[in-house]
Amino acid sequence: MNDSPDLQNWPGAGELRRLWMLDPQWTYLNHGGFGACPRPVLEVQRQWQDRLESQPINFLARQAEAELLRARSELADFVGADADDLVFVTNATMGVNTVLRCLSFSPGDEIIIADHAYPAVTNGLRYVTERSGAKMVNVQLPWPLGEDAEQAQEKLVAAFTGKFTTRTRLLVLDHITSPSGIIMPVEKICAAAREKGIPVLVDGAHAPGMLKLNLKTLGATYYTGNCHKWICSPKGAGFLWVDPRAQENIVPLSLSLGWMLKNEEESWYQTLFKYTGTWDPSPELSVPAALDFFRELPGGWEEVRRRNHELLLQARALLCEELNASPPVPAELLGSLATIPLPDGPVAPLEERLVNEFRIEVPVFGWPFRKREIPGPRLLRLSAQVYNDMDQYAYLASCLKKCLAASPAD
Ligand SMILES: Cc1ncc(COP(=O)(O)O)c(C=O)c1O
Repeated sequence: MNDSPDLQNWPGAGELRRLWMLDPQWTYLNHGGFGACPRPVLEVQRQWQDRLESQPINFLARQAEAELLRARSELADFVGADADDLVFVTNATMGVNTVLRCLSFSPGDEIIIADHAYPAVTNGLRYVTERSGAKMVNVQLPWPLGEDAEQAQEKLVAAFTGKFTTRTRLLVLDHITSPSGIIMPVEKICAAAREKGIPVLVDGAHAPGMLKLNLKTLGATYYTGNCHKWICSPKGAGFLWVDPRAQENIVPLSLSLGWMLKNEEESWYQTLFKYTGTWDPSPELSVPAALDFFRELPGGWEEVRRRNHELLLQARALLCEELNASPPVPAELLGSLATIPLPDGPVAPLEERLVNEFRIEVPVFGWPFRKREIPGPRLLRLSAQVYNDMDQYAYLASCLKKCLAASPAD
C-alpha cells in the first residue's frame, strides 16, 4: 500500500476536511475533545448496523464474535499487543473504572495520581478511595516544564518516584495529559514502579493513533485507550489491555452472558468481556476501517503523525508569537495536542465569544482546574488533525487578540 509513498500528492487540508462531516461554518480546533470520524468510516459503520438490524439474532448471536475477534486482532497489532491481552470497552473512562473497581484497597493503602489527570479518572479514583479508606496521593507535575526535554522528563519521573512508599498499591498515569498534552515518560516511570512492585494503570485516552504504541514493551500493568480520538473510529470503541499476569482479577463492570460463552482456548478475561449485555458493536467493528483510512493516505500512519506534530508546532509558535506567550512544554514531549498560557481572567466570557461570535471550537480552561466564572490563570489547548491548516490557527490568533484586547481580563 504505502511502499513508496507519493508524499507530493498529500491531499490539502480543505480536501481532507470534506471527508469529514464537520460543519464548514465552524473552525474546529478541538479534535482531542471527542475525535471526529471520517465519512468513509461512518459508511462502514452503517453497513455493520444494517447487517445487524437485518437479522439481529443471526448477527449478534452467531456472527459478531468472529467479526469482533478480527477487529480486536487488527487493533492489537496496531498497538503492539497480543489480541488475547486486549478487550474492547466503550471508552477510556470505562477502562479505568473497570480496573479500579476490580482491585481491592484497604485503609492506609496509597494510590498515586497526578494533578494533570483527566477529572473523570480522578473521580473514579476518589470513589474507590473513599469507599475503601485508601488514600489518594496527588502528584503535582512541574509546570511549566521548561525547554529541555531530557531535564523535563527527569523532573516528571522524579515527581512520581518521590511519592512511592511501602504503602503504594497503584499508580495511575496518563500517557498523554489532557490539560497539557505532555507525552509522559511512561516507560521510565513504569520501570521505576516495577522495581518497587507497584502496578501501573496507564490512561492512554489520547495515545492510540497519536503515538506509535508497543504495549508489550511499555511496562504497564493495565493500559486503556480510546479509538474514537486519534484513530477516528466511531464513538463507543475503546480498549483495555491487561498484562497476562494481572488478568485473573479483571472482570467487566457488567457481568452478563459472557460467563456462559467460555471455550477451551480462551481465558476467563476474554470470555467475560465478550458479552456484557446487548449492545451495538458497530463502533468496534469499524476500527479496522478507521485504521485503513489513515493507512491509505500517502505515507500512512507515520506521515499522519509527522504532519500533525509539525502542524501543531507551527500553530503553537504562531499563537505564542501573536499572544506573546511562552510555550510551557518542550516540543519533543508533544504529539498533536499542546497548551498555551493566556493572560489571567475568567474562562466563561472568552470561550463564549469564541463560540458564539467567531464559531471557533477550541478548549479554554482555568489552570489549575476551577469554575469557569472565576478569574485566574487560563490555558488554551490546540489540537492538530489532518483536516486542520494554518489559516484556521491564524484566524484563532486574530480572534483571540480581539477578545483579549477588548478586555484582557475577560
Ligand atoms: C487523559 C484522558 N483520559 C480519559 C479521558 C476520557 O475519555 P472518554 O470520555 O472517552 O472515556 C479523556 C478525555 O478526553 C482524557 O483526555
